[in-house]
Amino acid sequence: MRTLEWDPKNNTLKLIDQRYLPARFEIYTCHTYKDVIYSIKEMVVRGAPAIGVAAAYGMAIAAMHASSTTVENFKEEIKKFGAEMMASRPTAVNLMWAVRHILSLLDNPGNIEDYQKALLNEAHTMADEDVAINKKISEYGASLIEDGDTIIHHCNTGSLATVDWGTALGSIRMAHEQGKRIHVLVDETRPRLQGARLTAWELQQAGIPYDIISDNMSGHFMRTGQVNKVFFGADRVTANGDVANKIGSYMLALAAYTNKVPVYSVFPISTVDLSLANGALSPIEERDPQEVLNVSVEGLLVTPKGATARNPSFDVTPNYLITALVTELGVIYPPFNVNLQANITKNGGQN
Ligand code: MRU
Repeated sequence: MRTLEWDPKNNTLKLIDQRYLPARFEIYTCHTYKDVIYSIKEMVVRGAPAIGVAAAYGMAIAAMHASSTTVENFKEEIKKFGAEMMASRPTAVNLMWAVRHILSLLDNPGNIEDYQKALLNEAHTMADEDVAINKKISEYGASLIEDGDTIIHHCNTGSLATVDWGTALGSIRMAHEQGKRIHVLVDETRPRLQGARLTAWELQQAGIPYDIISDNMSGHFMRTGQVNKVFFGADRVTANGDVANKIGSYMLALAAYTNKVPVYSVFPISTVDLSLANGALSPIEERDPQEVLNVSVEGLLVTPKGATARNPSFDVTPNYLITALVTELGVIYPPFNVNLQANITKNGGQN
């Protein structure tokens, strides 16, 4: 199944519950928009594009359950739900983009029933478009990958991070399907281990050779000439091409820069936030320190009782560390502060 699927019989959103993979394959069902907010906050669903589309369905569910009886009140109620939805995770800008896109439908003339139908239809369209866009992005991404490459990949940017297929990992998968022999070094991606748990699971299913590495090994592999490329995704790309992505991306890009290993950030144009001039302005989510502390070996907690921790969930990779940005509009090269916006404008802007 796709990462998220609509159940038309029960008007619910089904999500692959990513908290338990790969140990257990479970489905989490969202009956209300509050369930969708919970799933985004708790990372039942995660990855910027998947979060965006889940939020769009959340808004459709909210519209179905709205209590207002006049169009005016209905619009106000939905906007309030939208604000709640957007506050569920701060860094992935696809979430804000998707909710704003859905809310813009309320500017069209209609009655409550028209809006309820329109919101759900738009969520379906966004889900299908996400898959088509990922395939397009991955064609460009795969064109950068050569036969025999060893690639370090950070976090999870595959089918599970999107509605289906993926971005950075989608590019690797497409290159593999084109017959290129690729080896992936999978950053385990502390503290939530999206690499070790989800990326390894996806690579295994696709039959792509890989080894999991702990995050602090990547510099060693690059310095000893064992890595050809670094691929990761993005949660928010600012106007100058700075990339906010999963914590650890910055350190990876620094080591790659020093060792002359090219770094590609792969994402849909909905991840671009042109309203922010640079990455220093990107909001960085700080999650529960327990995610860092809660590590057990042989049933024993590794940290002392009462230990404290910090847990920023994302960091910003400055544009000069990135070789190219890969999007559905093509591969964009520096200067990003000129070329990113120019590409978007040339293709009719962000919608
Ligand atoms: O905290 P997560 O798992 O939602 O973070 C995901 C990432 O950082 C991904 O790299 C990004 O969202 C791109 S997914 C195509």
